[in-house]
Amino acid sequence: MDASVLIAAARSAREFAIAPFSHFQVGAALLGKSGRIYSGCNIENASFGLTLCAERTAIFKALSEGERQFQAIAIFTAASKLTPPCGACRQILWEFCGDLPVILANLDGRTKIESAARLLPRPFGRQSL
Ligand code: THU
Repeated sequence: MDASVLIAAARSAREFAIAPFSHFQVGAALLGKSGRIYSGCNIENASFGLTLCAERTAIFKALSEGERQFQAIAIFTAASKLTPPCGACRQILWEFCGDLPVILANLDGRTKIESAARLLPRPFGRQSL
């Protein structure tokens, strides 16, 4: 897995963010086992709770196109402090992607590799039902 390619895809996806309320633009890029990259941006709504994060946009795009196994996800913002995924996205990531590397990156060129399991300790999952 070439992290720089995934980071570049997340950076490009961020350009499409629809964030007129928060002005916080996020891009994500998810690498499927097939080798395909699925990108996503955040899409805000005037009814704020309907906003979709960049990570979930990318994951749902991938799932809806038949991809079921994943290698890594990159998340890109302009924030000087690297942006980790929100709680809802951690849950969705864990459920559909398992313990994959989560690459955080920003415009300053900073990067950090987290893991989905570390970001969501003691997860609720299908084995909990
Ligand atoms: N956002 C994401 O896209 N991903 C995250 O993990 C954190 C938050 C978006 C949602 C909203 O459009 C904006 O960032 C501010 O919360």
